[in-house]
Amino acid sequence: MNLLIHDLDEKEWEEIAEDYRGWEVIAPSKEIKPCVGCFGCWLKTPGQCVIKDGYDRMGALIHQADELVVMSKYTYGGFSSFVKNVFDRSIGWVLPYFTIVDNEMHHRKRYPEDKKITVIFRGNDLTKEDQADAKRYVEAVCRNFYGVIKDIRFDELKTEVAKDISIEEIEREEANVVAFNKTILLNASLRGENSNTGKFLEKLEGSIGEDVEIINLSAYINRPDELVKALLPVKRIVLGMPMYVDGIPSALLKIMEMLEKTHSAEDKKIYAVVNMGFYESRQIRNALKQVRKWSEKCGFSYCGGLAIGAGEMMGSLIKSINGANGPVKNVVEAIETLAGVIKSSSAIDDIYADAYKFPRSAYMFMAGMGWPKAAKQNGLKKKDLLKRIEE
Ligand SMILES: Cc1cc2nc3c(=O)[nH]c(=O)nc-3n(C[C@H](O)[C@H](O)[C@H](O)COP(=O)(O)O)c2cc1C
Repeated sequence: MNLLIHDLDEKEWEEIAEDYRGWEVIAPSKEIKPCVGCFGCWLKTPGQCVIKDGYDRMGALIHQADELVVMSKYTYGGFSSFVKNVFDRSIGWVLPYFTIVDNEMHHRKRYPEDKKITVIFRGNDLTKEDQADAKRYVEAVCRNFYGVIKDIRFDELKTEVAKDISIEEIEREEANVVAFNKTILLNASLRGENSNTGKFLEKLEGSIGEDVEIINLSAYINRPDELVKALLPVKRIVLGMPMYVDGIPSALLKIMEMLEKTHSAEDKKIYAVVNMGFYESRQIRNALKQVRKWSEKCGFSYCGGLAIGAGEMMGSLIKSINGANGPVKNVVEAIETLAGVIKSSSAIDDIYADAYKFPRSAYMFMAGMGWPKAAKQNGLKKKDLLKRIEE
């Protein structure tokens, strides 16, 4: 079996459907729910997502496929929100446990094989730099997901996606919008109380002090138009997010695509706070580049990001009294620096904050120990976590 993941509209698909007769096809015709970051695909039903919307078996499908082809609209140097959503829902393809690949922390394989991948991006007027960004991103995904790149192509985008009516409504409303001087910290994690992003943003909120508010994307998940409306008049936005599959989580990406479509003329200063599970904050560079490219596409000013490695540990330490001298020291200092930059509405180069005096081997050991313990609470044994789904 071969597997195709695409985001083509019906007309585009009709033109090529014949070429993919007999393939397993994952397409946007069926509604897809975003990953909520619960790790159920590792700890409750190993290898399968717990959200039963027809996209819950992606890990097994990737395993069964001889080859994977991905067709995506070129979106800020990465995949469109639909294709990204499918990837975010596919982490059951790998195990929760860690290993080192190319001197970076990554997950261990659930299945023995590597997967051949072809990626076809569709976009117009893509520069050499645009193409290089997308290649770097696909390479990172493949390093993370045990993919072997067969080909990466860039095709012309034949049909521009039609505007949503709801977006046109937003544009009309925009005329009445009065810019306000508050800084909005948008928490794009859907993990609620447990969100590390929320903890970093709370710290940032405290350091900024006045005229700042945290908004949770989770509160708007079924009414994204309202979130877009709420963000339109805002002068400074901090996009707070967990890194998912080397990029921006799909739920946030969807909001970013919608904001781009509003063609808002309003100048905005965009900042980002991105945290990740692996150790090396440098792995976040593609996600920050995607935020930068989105800002440029929208006519906003990208004013700097903070990349946080070992996010799960940093999130639990950020509020500790001894934080100033512990592993979270670099993160605390970076948040204070970023707060100063935001307060003065200025810009800064991206900051990469890694664990302070806390070795990678210790972090990996600690993090690895946590998985069987967590699974035990769901009645699973250690060996259950290694389950392979063969059909
Ligand atoms: C679907 C999914 C994909 C992820 N992909 C990555 C990844 O590519 N690299 C990484 O270091 N961490 C990855 N993580 C781990 C999260 O970035 C990490 O757990 C983060 O601390 C979660 O932040 P939050 O609590 O604010 O949601 C992923 C987590 C999920 C649920």
